[in-house]
Amino acid sequence: MKASAPGKIILFGEHAVVYGRPALAVPVAQVHADVEVLDSSRPGIWIHAPLIDLHAELTSLPSDHPIASVILKVFQLFGISQPPNIEVNISSTIPVASGLGSGAAVSVALIRALSFLREPQGSAFLFHPITNEQVNDLVYEIEKIHHGTPSGIDNTVITYNMPVYFIKGQPVETFKTGKPFTIVIGDTGIPALTKESVGDVRLLWLRNTNHFENIFNEIAQISLIARRSIESGKPELLGELMDHNHALLQEMTVSSPELDTLVSAARDAGALGAKLSGGGRGGNMIALTDQAKAESVAAALMFAGAKRTIITEIS
Ligand code: MEV
Repeated sequence: MKASAPGKIILFGEHAVVYGRPALAVPVAQVHADVEVLDSSRPGIWIHAPLIDLHAELTSLPSDHPIASVILKVFQLFGISQPPNIEVNISSTIPVASGLGSGAAVSVALIRALSFLREPQGSAFLFHPITNEQVNDLVYEIEKIHHGTPSGIDNTVITYNMPVYFIKGQPVETFKTGKPFTIVIGDTGIPALTKESVGDVRLLWLRNTNHFENIFNEIAQISLIARRSIESGKPELLGELMDHNHALLQEMTVSSPELDTLVSAARDAGALGAKLSGGGRGGNMIALTDQAKAESVAAALMFAGAKRTIITEIS
């Protein structure tokens, strides 16, 4: 059985979302994780993930290994004590540790593929079809093992594959776009662990709580206004909000010289606004552009050092 899950970008509100403020995120269909689960004649559960050079049998991996832990959680959820012999093939076009949600996308695709696995004879489901809510909860559990204190936004947008207005611990709220708009994503090519930037922000917040709470409140306002602008068909207003959000992320120390360079290059090339997206320090930035300028903004990003760009329409 094959399953796929998209990548994601955060439009507004990263980091503040960990502290209960709203954030907006959208799926990026151009990058995706694909998983195929096959019945196997070889004993064991064999995992092949060439992207991370992994070819191993499940029991040879530590139980907190990102891929092993997903498989073990699925078995646990369905009360499978004697798992069948299977082969899991994982491929992905989402760069690892780039802020595009590669880990959550692999987890979502893997859970869906496993849940539809059939008995070797063919007919019955070996496991059970699984609801989005169950997938989301499971992936959140996995994210907690690897990211410390994740807000849950990544697994939510990837599971539901729809734009979300996300507030930690609240029911999933999707939103509609009044008018499509174009985003250019620029990848610094610098891998950065979300866990580390989130951990550093926590230390700064503990040291200077009032100041950080004020920053988070400002970001909450930005997310709220951004959602209204998107829903009311005025996406051009997002540019200024992106610039403001980026300045606040810089204040939180999660930008980097490379991200700042790409953000400036996008603005100089005519983008309406730009900001880092995701955990920061490396990974991606995003820029809002008129559709007609998207190619030239993408070219300017490459010229300024981006390792790759994606032009995506949010609709
Ligand atoms: C990571 O994509 C977004 C952060 O806000 C972390 C989180 O929400 O868990 C930086």
